[in-house]
Amino acid sequence: MVEPKPIDNLQLDAAGRLRHFLSIEGLDRDLLLRIMDTAESFAAVSEQKVKKVPLLRGKTIVNLFFENSTRTRTTFELAAKRLSADVLNINIAVSATAKGESLLDTVRNLEAMHADMFVVRHEQSGAAHFIARHVAPHVSVINAGDGRHAHPTQAMLDMFTIRRLKGQFDALRVAVVGDILHSRVARSEIRALNALGAAEVRVVAPKTLLPAQVETLGVKVFRNLEEGLRDVDVIIMLRLQKERMSGALLPSEHEYFTCFGLTEQRLALAKADVIVMHPGPVNRNIEIESRVADGPHSVILQQVSHGIAVRMAILSMAMQVGDGRPGRRVNA
Ligand code: NCD
Repeated sequence: MVEPKPIDNLQLDAAGRLRHFLSIEGLDRDLLLRIMDTAESFAAVSEQKVKKVPLLRGKTIVNLFFENSTRTRTTFELAAKRLSADVLNINIAVSATAKGESLLDTVRNLEAMHADMFVVRHEQSGAAHFIARHVAPHVSVINAGDGRHAHPTQAMLDMFTIRRLKGQFDALRVAVVGDILHSRVARSEIRALNALGAAEVRVVAPKTLLPAQVETLGVKVFRNLEEGLRDVDVIIMLRLQKERMSGALLPSEHEYFTCFGLTEQRLALAKADVIVMHPGPVNRNIEIESRVADGPHSVILQQVSHGIAVRMAILSMAMQVGDGRPGRRVNA
């Protein structure tokens, strides 16, 4: 599979509206803000007695998950159902993929059943872009995480959470801590924070868990957690992605926690009103102490709730029934 090009406007139609949602790259600040504004209006729907709006009635959305997921798959399903779409969850473990069917054949067969949208998670970087290049013109593709490349809906729900709790991005110092090397979440968060004008984006990790030339992403690099946490407004913790590690990148989990685990003591180095985020799944006492994960600064469960409203916004905008105002075309 070919790695996606770094800048790609496959995501926008000729009028500059969202068609696919594959990565934060290629989307401008206005569009990211519009996603968050649209999500604000959907957040209210989840609080109503009848948690549904008819925007995607008659549309069929296929959740195509080739990798494990709890939060992402279920919040996409809830988002689609709250928009009144029909949702199909394909269980890859018992699908024809297990009999050797190619990715494209699976997609073509689902298209023949009149699917309007694919939400794709795949272990290969570039899988969602690949599908987007091959679907019929009316079909949209949403990237729910591809390899270590991108996880743009997670980045947007995290930006939504930050904006709700902290307001303007230009006053914020944000630390992304942990396994940056293997994290698609980190890549998408860094792009989004920079596009939205965050005052400072830090990455904090041991050398073995930092990608080569990470500075070129527009971040300040810290190899010491205490220094990296000093005076930050937001901490985004990452899971150690053991399933993507080849070879011994870490001495031991215990040693990792000793040097890079977020404890109450270390949290005290950040601003007094710091918020602590984590995309989940959390490995307690490996990357974060339970007292911090469950403590007053943690917004980890709010992130999950916000995932529904943000995904409703992205699904409806890609189907062009949400805020369909034409945006400015980027990289036209
Ligand atoms: C992340 C993912 O799958 O990339 N989780 C998620 O979507 N909530 C992060 C992770 O697996 O650590």
